[in-house]
Amino acid sequence: MIYFDNAATTYPKPSEVSVEVLDTIMRYGANPGRSGHKLSIAASEKVYATREKVAKLLSYDSPENVVFTQNATYALNLAIKGMICEKCHVITSDAEHNSVLRPLETLKARYGVEYSTFESDGDIETSIKGLVRSDTKAIISTLTSNVTGKEIPLEILSRISRQLGLPLIVDASQLIGHKRINLKETPCDVLCAPGHKGLFGIQGSGFALISSPLIKNGLAEGGSGTNSMNLSMPEYLPERFEAGTLPTPAICSLGAGIDFIENYGIDRIEEKLNMLTRICSSELRKLHGTEIFGDTGGIVSFRMKGIAPDILARYLDDEDICVRAGLHCAPMIHKKLGSEKTGLVRVSFSVFNEESEIFEFIKALKNFSNKI
Ligand code: ALA
Repeated sequence: MIYFDNAATTYPKPSEVSVEVLDTIMRYGANPGRSGHKLSIAASEKVYATREKVAKLLSYDSPENVVFTQNATYALNLAIKGMICEKCHVITSDAEHNSVLRPLETLKARYGVEYSTFESDGDIETSIKGLVRSDTKAIISTLTSNVTGKEIPLEILSRISRQLGLPLIVDASQLIGHKRINLKETPCDVLCAPGHKGLFGIQGSGFALISSPLIKNGLAEGGSGTNSMNLSMPEYLPERFEAGTLPTPAICSLGAGIDFIENYGIDRIEEKLNMLTRICSSELRKLHGTEIFGDTGGIVSFRMKGIAPDILARYLDDEDICVRAGLHCAPMIHKKLGSEKTGLVRVSFSVFNEESEIFEFIKALKNFSNKI
């Protein structure tokens, strides 16, 4: 099988990740942060070690500020809904995923929150600055479009947010693990990320790195293992936003995934993804009737004249090639690209993909075009 759907979930996982999940279940199976027995303490220490790995990966000094969530969507919901901003205004990009757009629409309907979108492919600074109002309370932006692969540089967002004195919430879903992020050099208020994409954790892992007091409300209340007589959640991080039992195996898988990418080298990962992207894009361009809408950072999105993307994806699936067709939960960028009616076929790579697989994929596309 050829797996080109890594922007949705990376597959396969490094074997170290699968081993870590099993090891965690077998040797660290008690509830972390609850009972005071040895097994529970060992589980807590494993979880804390992963907080440290996440913080170190992002050059951030305080592991306590890493709040585990089940994916990036929950992390973004926590950040966006937790910041409390009734009838206020926020600025977001034109490339957002529904994990930002839907929480914003909910806040719009419930609390009159308004949002404006900046142009992610032009002069970002001028575009953002032109949208600021007296009631603007935050900038919320993805760092990479999951449709085009185009990056919205954290360097620019961080600088603008600091200049304007506006908190910055970023969605690093498609960038983390593909490129080094340094929060000391390019700070933001909340960085949200999944574990199951570029960090090679299993599904059910993700986090929000919360570095300012921006978030007031959590998404859930419940047991924290501390101060049980107090019927409010603890004031301190990470417990404040981690109600209920944590998914230790998923969290530890994320730790093993981070070890994998650090050992492999994030710069090498970036280079390999860029190389695969370049080859795929240039081979696709040689095919008659192919329109490419994005070809950066491990993602290539395209359409073939006269062939509906979902039909093409189904054919590729029959050939054991996994891609994702459709709107990729990112309606705004598809509208901007003019692909909202048809959707696109998206190919997305990981370091486990090889050049030879791209040639197999191109061969399959040629066979399909010859048949119709
Ligand atoms: N957001 C994921 C994707 O782009 C699931 O496919």
